[in-house]
Amino acid sequence: MCRQTEKIEVHEKCIGVIKGYSLLKRISLTLQGESLIAIEENTKELCVIKRASKKLYKNHVSMKGHCINEDFLKEVSIVKMLSKDPNAPCGFVRFKKFIEDDLNFYLIEEHGGIDLFDYIIEQNKKIKENRLSIKQWQLKIQYIMGTILETVNYFHTQHHLCHLDLSLENILINSKTMDVKICDFGLSLIFDSYKSNIDNASNKFQISHNFLCGQYAGKLQYKSPEMNERKPFDARLADVWAIGVILFIMLCGIPPFEYAHNNDLRFQYIINGRLLELIKLWKLEENIPKDAIDLLLQIFKVEKQRITMERILNHPYFVRSRQLMVSHKNCAKYQATLATTTSILSSNAIKTSSVPGTILTNIKQ
Ligand SMILES: Nc1ncnc2c1ncn2[C@@H]1O[C@H](COP(=O)(O)OP(=O)(O)O)[C@@H](O)[C@H]1O
Ligand SMILES: [Mg+2]
Repeated sequence: MCRQTEKIEVHEKCIGVIKGYSLLKRISLTLQGESLIAIEENTKELCVIKRASKKLYKNHVSMKGHCINEDFLKEVSIVKMLSKDPNAPCGFVRFKKFIEDDLNFYLIEEHGGIDLFDYIIEQNKKIKENRLSIKQWQLKIQYIMGTILETVNYFHTQHHLCHLDLSLENILINSKTMDVKICDFGLSLIFDSYKSNIDNASNKFQISHNFLCGQYAGKLQYKSPEMNERKPFDARLADVWAIGVILFIMLCGIPPFEYAHNNDLRFQYIINGRLLELIKLWKLEENIPKDAIDLLLQIFKVEKQRITMERILNHPYFVRSRQLMVSHKNCAKYQATLATTTSILSSNAIKTSSVPGTILTNIKQ
């Protein structure tokens, strides 16, 4: 069973009101609006409101005037559909309500905590201040990765849904309870036997199997090589690649490469199976579990040779994660060890597209 949504006392000053919700703080600007932390006035439950301008939505453009692939109403329907499944794992944010007025759509979701980007910076600070050991941090990473893998596998197998925008910013964690939740289904696609997500207008590609995809949007650092080459690709394996980038950043404190293309020297090393050499060069091998390195080696491969989600679930790194997840569910004491004290409302959601801060010391590039 998933935990109940967090309830909080309202001490903060409201910055506005939307139909029964007091707005507390803007988290960030989004492509067509903003995301805000709010309190549901009746229940006092903390939630997040994603606002999208109807005018921008109608014209398929962002606030900056760029054409975009994200479809806000599709995102609403996906979160709603997933949230209806009583057997779904807890690892994604739940739908609460959809409202609209003359100017905007509003998607209201449970509050999932801070995103992994901010969480890594927070944990890095703790490591530097000797309040968290590398070993404890490894355990936390392992637990977080377990939830991500379990949830993405659920999307793929139960709903034929690929997220296609997995990144540190789109995964949330409640640092008190250690609940991990995937958010932002704006680029997600559902695949079935009859539909293809390849742009049929160009008539370029034959539909050969499910999950074949021709949508190349997303964050450059997380895109797979086949996406960067603009080939039709298996959307499940693109999610697997992005998970590899997330795992690498969590373990090493820096992205594996700027982008997955031969122009990038670090990518050339990694795709040619020389990941361990890089890790040794950065003097990180002591800090990274051997089975995590093995998993990364199998993820950072060309599409045809990449490990599938099914095989990841039998990989020793995930098997160990699953054990941690079971202990977490059963053991409050363990939970207390992992829990951190930072308030979810104190997060600074301003992001840069580059390195999230070095977690581990002595990283040399
Ligand atoms: N349900 C949620 N709970 C907590 N924070 C959230 C939630 N949804 C989004 N956020 C925060 O807002 C940011 C932007 O929201 P997101 O849905 O990712 O929009 P965008 O499409 O602009 O990336 C996320 O990176 C995350 O930090
Ligand atoms: Mg996002």
